[in-house]
Amino acid sequence: MAKEKENENNLMDKIVSLAKRRGFVFQSSEVYGGLNSCWDYGPIGVELKRNVKNAWWEAMVHRRNDIVGVDCAILMSPKVWEASGHLKNFTDPLVDCKECKKRWRQDKLTDPKHCPECNGELTEARNFNLMFKTFMGPVEDSSAVVYMRPETAQGIFVNFKNVQTSSRMKPPFGIAQVGKSFRNEITPGNFTFRTREFEQMEMEFFVKPGEDEQWYKYWVEERRKWYSQFGIKEENIRIREHAKNELAHYAKGCADVEYLYPWGWDELEGIANRTDFDLKTHQEHSGKDLSYFDDQTKEKYLPYVIEPAAGADRATLAFLLDAYDEEVKENGESRVVLHFHPKIAPIKVAILPLVKKDGLPDIAEKIESELREFYTTFYDESGSIGKRYARQDEIGTPFGVTIDYQTKDDDTVTLRFRDSMEQRRVSIKDLVSIIREEIKNYKRK
Ligand code: GAP
Repeated sequence: MAKEKENENNLMDKIVSLAKRRGFVFQSSEVYGGLNSCWDYGPIGVELKRNVKNAWWEAMVHRRNDIVGVDCAILMSPKVWEASGHLKNFTDPLVDCKECKKRWRQDKLTDPKHCPECNGELTEARNFNLMFKTFMGPVEDSSAVVYMRPETAQGIFVNFKNVQTSSRMKPPFGIAQVGKSFRNEITPGNFTFRTREFEQMEMEFFVKPGEDEQWYKYWVEERRKWYSQFGIKEENIRIREHAKNELAHYAKGCADVEYLYPWGWDELEGIANRTDFDLKTHQEHSGKDLSYFDDQTKEKYLPYVIEPAAGADRATLAFLLDAYDEEVKENGESRVVLHFHPKIAPIKVAILPLVKKDGLPDIAEKIESELREFYTTFYDESGSIGKRYARQDEIGTPFGVTIDYQTKDDDTVTLRFRDSMEQRRVSIKDLVSIIREEIKNYKRK
């Protein structure tokens, strides 16, 4: 059944409620009334987000010989943020409503003079720095100020020389990082879409100046393909090139991979041509030579950088929204199903003994312990088999293994497929390899 985008609030409400009911996402500090725009991932959600991050890492690092990874500290020298321009430029225009006192980001308003909620007059905009500030050590004075990083990228730039020399990488090559970032957003919202604490998946690709345009085009296309490769429908993904007046202070070009969220097209990931801005500014501020010397050509240059910067939480939300479907089965019953790509699905295989007696649970547990070595599994013996299938469909488990009386006679089980609901009789000894092939050849219908 096609998802109806016009039912945006409806769909969002259903996703938020499913997320809580089935353990994907909970409100942070809920027992104390919650903390605005902060969310916790539950047992199913943490698997989903981990799979999203692993799929990214596999595509960006493990499957390539030109990209390596790092994991840098969240707290960095304040000099980093001075050099990067974040202390001066990482601001949003903040306006207050003189009537209802609500705060808004002026650049997101259609009418910059009036409050979108009560039509009251808005104040003049003032620049509000988005970086969270804290103090390092016991003394809270200006010399102890440090910032929670607002992007993972800067840890990569200041480690460029360390990584390049220790890994003996030559441009074109990339450095990837997944980790938390923090921004004191004026208007967080839309569930996990815009929050003040979030995870980024960023990769800085260092190239010879002059080769930047071609690599920029390459990465825009690679990143678009990644989302569809893991099951996002082609019609829900698009590329939007930024106009010149939208570009960040460091960028020569930028394109967003956008997703058709229930509230409309919005940013999932940005791919920017950052030129040599970052290495140049860190070279100037630190006094350290950050250029690359090519042994063969004897050329020395500051590499240009192409940066695909994605959000792990936004991607997880997009995968969840895109997978959601309400279907009417042939017998007239309806089911909620998440059509996750099996690599993204939190649980790969559900193990379901038909009844709780006659030795079937023992066989089921043995099968589960064998499959667990290869796949995330979930054992469930309570309720009717139909109800148990429905519970697994709702969290997007692609395969179900049912153990019944015939299993005792011939060592076969029923393998059920989430999307088609097809049931196939297979031998226990073939389960691992059949599931492996199904995952490898999976194509979303
Ligand atoms: N280093 C470049 C950079 O940080 P960005 O477009 O500001 O670029 C990259 O951020 C990605 O990080 C975004 O496309 C989005 O997916 C994610 N992101 C940014 N701010 C976010 C927020 N407040 N909440 C959740 N995700 C966010």
